Amino acid sequence: MAPKIATPKYSSPKPIELPDRKWPNNTITTSPQWCSVDLRDGNQALPNPLTPDQKLRYFNLLCDIGFKHIEVAFPSASADDFNFTRRLIEQKLIPDDVFIMGLTQCRSHLIEKTMESLQGIDRAIVHAYYASSDLHLQQVFSMDRPALLKMIVESIAQIRDLAAKMPQSDIRLEFSLEEFTDSDLSFCLEACEAVFETWGQASPEKPLIFNLPATVERRPPNQYADMIEWFCRNFSQRDRIIVSVHSHNDQGMAIAATELAFLAGAQRVEGTLFGHGERTGNVDLVVVANNLYSRGIETGLDFSNLEHIANTVEELTQIPIYSRQPYSGEYVFTAFSGSHQDAIAKGIKKLNQAPDKFGMGWKVPYLHIDPADLGRKYESLIRINSQSGKGGVASVIEQSHGLTLPKAMQAEVRNCIQELSDRVAREVSTDEVYQAFENEFVNPQGPYELKGYWPRPDDNDPTQIHGEIKIVVNGQPVNVVADGNGPISAFVHGMKKINNSDFTIEDYEEQSIGKGADAKAIAYVPLRLPDDVVMFGVGIDTNIVQAAVRAIVAAMNRMMRQDHTKK
Ligand code: KIV
Ligand code: ZN
Repeated sequence: MAPKIATPKYSSPKPIELPDRKWPNNTITTSPQWCSVDLRDGNQALPNPLTPDQKLRYFNLLCDIGFKHIEVAFPSASADDFNFTRRLIEQKLIPDDVFIMGLTQCRSHLIEKTMESLQGIDRAIVHAYYASSDLHLQQVFSMDRPALLKMIVESIAQIRDLAAKMPQSDIRLEFSLEEFTDSDLSFCLEACEAVFETWGQASPEKPLIFNLPATVERRPPNQYADMIEWFCRNFSQRDRIIVSVHSHNDQGMAIAATELAFLAGAQRVEGTLFGHGERTGNVDLVVVANNLYSRGIETGLDFSNLEHIANTVEELTQIPIYSRQPYSGEYVFTAFSGSHQDAIAKGIKKLNQAPDKFGMGWKVPYLHIDPADLGRKYESLIRINSQSGKGGVASVIEQSHGLTLPKAMQAEVRNCIQELSDRVAREVSTDEVYQAFENEFVNPQGPYELKGYWPRPDDNDPTQIHGEIKIVVNGQPVNVVADGNGPISAFVHGMKKINNSDFTIEDYEEQSIGKGADAKAIAYVPLRLPDDVVMFGVGIDTNIVQAAVRAIVAAMNRMMRQDHTKK
């Protein structure tokens, strides 16, 4: 008996015969035309479709971004879609340079309803489609290719004739072969040639749009590009058509598929903001556009306030944007790891010093685009968790409170923040970072509470200072007097009368915070402790000497609490 041969469940899609393909050697140098299908493909896939008022808000947002082709509805599919189209037209809500689009299947009664929805419009694109794959023909429509072709041609003729009855309106045609990437290429070409001939009015000025979708991403992007190049090369009247692409993201490669399709000759792209759409969504136009923008290509779309756009779309769709979604995700302009934080901070500083160094305006480690171009802030660049480095922590404190920590102190502060982040087992906010810094270095708990320090120059030798310290030690008030060759040394001598540990003051640093009458002094004082550990204290006061002595008391409190008093 012959052995049974199991049919494999999956197999590779058949590659396209195109040995002399040109697209791999091409470069994208210009922007495609953009078409938003948020309000149709995107909306139909929302768990809670948009209400008419929400749709209008979304429409206005798309216009503000700069979309000139906006598919607003499937007017024959629902009363809401029909009425929304009417509302835009009757209330004159469509900007003069925007073509709205209505989608219709190639079926007579649906076309009629769609054309009815567009009555009185200045300009519009009727978007007719039908699936061309054998899978659809056999399993869904029970139809053969000649019957499909006949139906398509009749539908285009119907649209043409109805459009002719609207002489005041500039009606253009878009035709899509749904499941193009699963269809026979020669048949697609034959169908499009027939559509072109039937429409009969395409010109370079008013081209017919052929949209060739990857309705389901079944092929790798290079094969999609091959199909697009093949179509562009073989279509008879290339200069009278626009080749448009429409990629869904089933295999996560919609962006790549779209970009390779541009290389292969596509001039227009359909997609949605943040990739809303059926299943895994349509291609994310925010990513496609900003990829081009980041390569110096003017796109005509304005994402300079991406946060506002993202917030609006999140609110309307009730679907949160993934935190790592390129350009729009919460984390995309952040660096958690210390080495990244350090490199970004150095890179930005150097870039500001020498902007032309790399022959371009922006080149920074770990950031391929300037967050400011999307309305994002540098402040949000550095996020703090247990992996964060000392540079990152220091920059958060500097950006939030204007304190420049001495280099030698940064590791100590990082350790303190790391401990906090480990303890709470999560990222810590800027406020939490500063609070922890203040608790540990400015006002640490300990035995000493300084009440006042009065340094006074000697009556005969002003280089000699007599100091009087009022301090509470373990709850008991204590007064001490001591001398020194400066106010700080007098203070240290006084404190050594209270605590005779063998500590010394290393170099200390002072800065001022703020300007004018309200300016304050901040002192960072490192104590070298008996066990040779160096520990910082920080003091803030309107007076420089008072700031320094507060810093010494803070460091001593830390020393006592952590018991570094012995060798
Ligand atoms: O994905 C698709 O093929 C579509 C068509 C209707 C253009 O959305
Ligand atoms: Zn689609």
